[in-house]
Amino acid sequence: MVIFGGSGDLAKRKLIPALYMLHKRSLLENDFKIIATGRSILTSDQFMERAEESLSKYINKSDFESGWVESFLPRLSYFVSDPESINDVMSLGENIKELAGNDYRVLFYLATPPSLYEIIPGNLKEAGLVSSSTRIIVEKPFGYDLASAKRMNDILRSVFTENQIFRIDHFLGKETVQNILALRFANGIFEPLWNRNFIERVEITAVENMGIETRGGFYDNTGALRDMVQNHLIQLLALVAMEPPIAFNEKEFRNEVVKVYRSLKPLSEEEIERDVIRGQYIESHLKGGRRVLPYREEKNVNSQSMTETFLAMKVNILNWRWEGVPFYIRTGKQMPTKVTEIVIHFKPTPHRLFSSRDECPEQNQLIIRLQPNEGAVLKFDVKLPGSGFQVKQVPMEFTYDKLGGVQSGDAYSRLIEDCLNGESVLFTRSDAVEASWNYFDPILKHWRENPVTPLYGYPAGTWGPDISDRIIDGGKKWSNPCKNLTDTDKYCEL
Ligand code: BG6
Repeated sequence: MVIFGGSGDLAKRKLIPALYMLHKRSLLENDFKIIATGRSILTSDQFMERAEESLSKYINKSDFESGWVESFLPRLSYFVSDPESINDVMSLGENIKELAGNDYRVLFYLATPPSLYEIIPGNLKEAGLVSSSTRIIVEKPFGYDLASAKRMNDILRSVFTENQIFRIDHFLGKETVQNILALRFANGIFEPLWNRNFIERVEITAVENMGIETRGGFYDNTGALRDMVQNHLIQLLALVAMEPPIAFNEKEFRNEVVKVYRSLKPLSEEEIERDVIRGQYIESHLKGGRRVLPYREEKNVNSQSMTETFLAMKVNILNWRWEGVPFYIRTGKQMPTKVTEIVIHFKPTPHRLFSSRDECPEQNQLIIRLQPNEGAVLKFDVKLPGSGFQVKQVPMEFTYDKLGGVQSGDAYSRLIEDCLNGESVLFTRSDAVEASWNYFDPILKHWRENPVTPLYGYPAGTWGPDISDRIIDGGKKWSNPCKNLTDTDKYCEL
């Protein structure tokens, strides 16, 4: 396996730990070698030292076992190369042969800035490094907009066949994301209710309580829409909204995902103005005196940046099942907590027979918690003991720790393992990328052409601009999964 961008952040945090976990589960063949390559000047020994450091930082303590670490590190080596230079890519080819002999199969992993995705495939082909057994994994973002996504797909397809290309969206590697499918299609009780007759609205939230850390240069040219919404969030929406595939295989499952994307109701200019709220975090002082930098003061960020670090929007699906059911999706950096969850709000009972202790007791909710405390909660009403007839909403919950827990970092292991086995069901197909961009591109265009579209500031540590509640029909609000925890009702203490 050759990792382009091998000295970068993704390799450090996710890929090396994921590969170690595969090694530890004895899922890598004995002669499986990993070459990290990039422009940074490093020796293989230095790279191994760094790899050991990332393992000690990014995997569970209990998984860091010195015997396993010692047997893993010799699989790694580092090769200095500039992927834009054909000569360097040819030397990389020589290096692969030195390590693996003439008879090898290779998986290339593109963990570089996306601008290089347009160059590396051509160079690999020219250097004679692509055969029918070669596979390539491409990290998101898949393109910068519809036009660049199409260009990228064309470039990839001019070198590889579609079944050699693995576009990774690590959300799909998460156990709990896959569990949405199990919940829906392995149970008989939910599916009959899973439509416009019984569901009022769906909320999908994926927020984080950290900023952009060392990724300012990347993030400032990307923003929340490209980083999270066009891929991860819409993928979650597809899993909630899709029709049952006739079989769980790469063709049928991915066909259903694409059908959802193609059913998304295009947004008019007015709807973009009204139903898409963008925000950017501003300075804040958390309890205890810690100052959180405003986005514009983060390293490698333009001091006048208009990049959104928060986005909330309303999505409608034009099909028989979902007509009239709004899907609200939201993501943000520097929010009060890190949580990814889906809330299905069922319609209220048609007639209110009982008085209640809660604000909206007559609405059942199914909460699918993707992280942390992975699990699901069904909320329903029960009678409060005592005289009279008051009802109260109670939760019925399942958490994954009851099944032995969900290991963090496992999403990448799962997906790399699938790729090594040639299993592409959990990877994004080219038509899905384009169908998704087709829906989101007009938003980017609208912002570009109307720079006065508001970009709302929100203090770091809060739930984003208040105005994001405005997009929810009927005066309702987002379900914020933690209480206000901070010193004012707008701030959140962590
Ligand atoms: C990545 C984004 O794809 O997903 C990051 O580029 C984001 O900005 C991350 O932090 C969130 O993933 P997870 O698995 O930590 O929820």
